[in-house]
Amino acid sequence: MELLQHPQQILAWYVDAGVDEAIGEAPLDRFALAGQAQASRAAQAEALLKAAETERAAQPFKAPDARDARGRDGGRESGRESTPTLAPPLAPVRAVEGGVSDEQIKSAVALAAAAKSVDELSAALQGFDGCPLKKSAMNLVFGAGNSAAKVVLIGDVPGADEDRQGAPFVGPGGQLLDKMLASIGLDRAQVYVANTVFWRPPGNRTPHASEVAVCLPFVERLIELIDPAVLVTLGGPATHALLAQQGNVAKLVGRWFTFETSRMSHPIAATALHHPDSLIKTPAYKRQAWQNLLAIRQKLNELGL
Ligand code: URA
Repeated sequence: MELLQHPQQILAWYVDAGVDEAIGEAPLDRFALAGQAQASRAAQAEALLKAAETERAAQPFKAPDARDARGRDGGRESGRESTPTLAPPLAPVRAVEGGVSDEQIKSAVALAAAAKSVDELSAALQGFDGCPLKKSAMNLVFGAGNSAAKVVLIGDVPGADEDRQGAPFVGPGGQLLDKMLASIGLDRAQVYVANTVFWRPPGNRTPHASEVAVCLPFVERLIELIDPAVLVTLGGPATHALLAQQGNVAKLVGRWFTFETSRMSHPIAATALHHPDSLIKTPAYKRQAWQNLLAIRQKLNELGL
């Protein structure tokens, strides 16, 4: 291994590893700190897994339908409403490339399925070590808001501000999100906000598919547990992952879909909206976003909310 001696080389090494800001004078061994909490989290995770196993053994197996590996329908571009459904808990999972094993995905599915409340889900995720991003992130960014909300909004990945504070949408994008919500008479206390991925990817890189895959069972369980009337995906990654849509999000925003899992008794109305960060970067999208927000308001009015 090459020994880095020049300060510039060392700095470049840090930047490549995703360290893009200095936040303290003294070094902190986060691996050692994490180790102390590890034992109790592992015990909790094991207890939840055992509970999931017991529950699964007591339930009749419901076969997934003949769709793709996640049970999702193709052919969405026809414009008809779609009804994504998922494979049942602990159904065989496909191999995923990029640092996450099938076992880790299975464990995510079981842990998420075992959670009976948003608090239990948050605790399960705290104890889950199957996502490699956890090692480089400062904090888990779970979600925030009203766990009985009628509207759930899902973004993509936490940024630096969210990573530091352990809360979603607290940076500039979050401030714009607050204004967007206010424009249709909503605030953070009335909605629930979370992300597609629960830990910040180093250097704000795009998360790998396997990192999204291992977080997805928790995101889906979060939506099941809150059971909102309307699900809003913010930007491409959330729209692709949760609504099983592909392609440019600019073509998907404003369309209505449905979201449903095998454990849900009814589908949820779902729509895609431009991500606030992309509205900051490309203000030209704001006009369309405003129209999409009005359509969400109208949907809520129709639902008597
Ligand atoms: N962007 C997101 O998608 N989520 C956050 O929490 C912050 C920025």
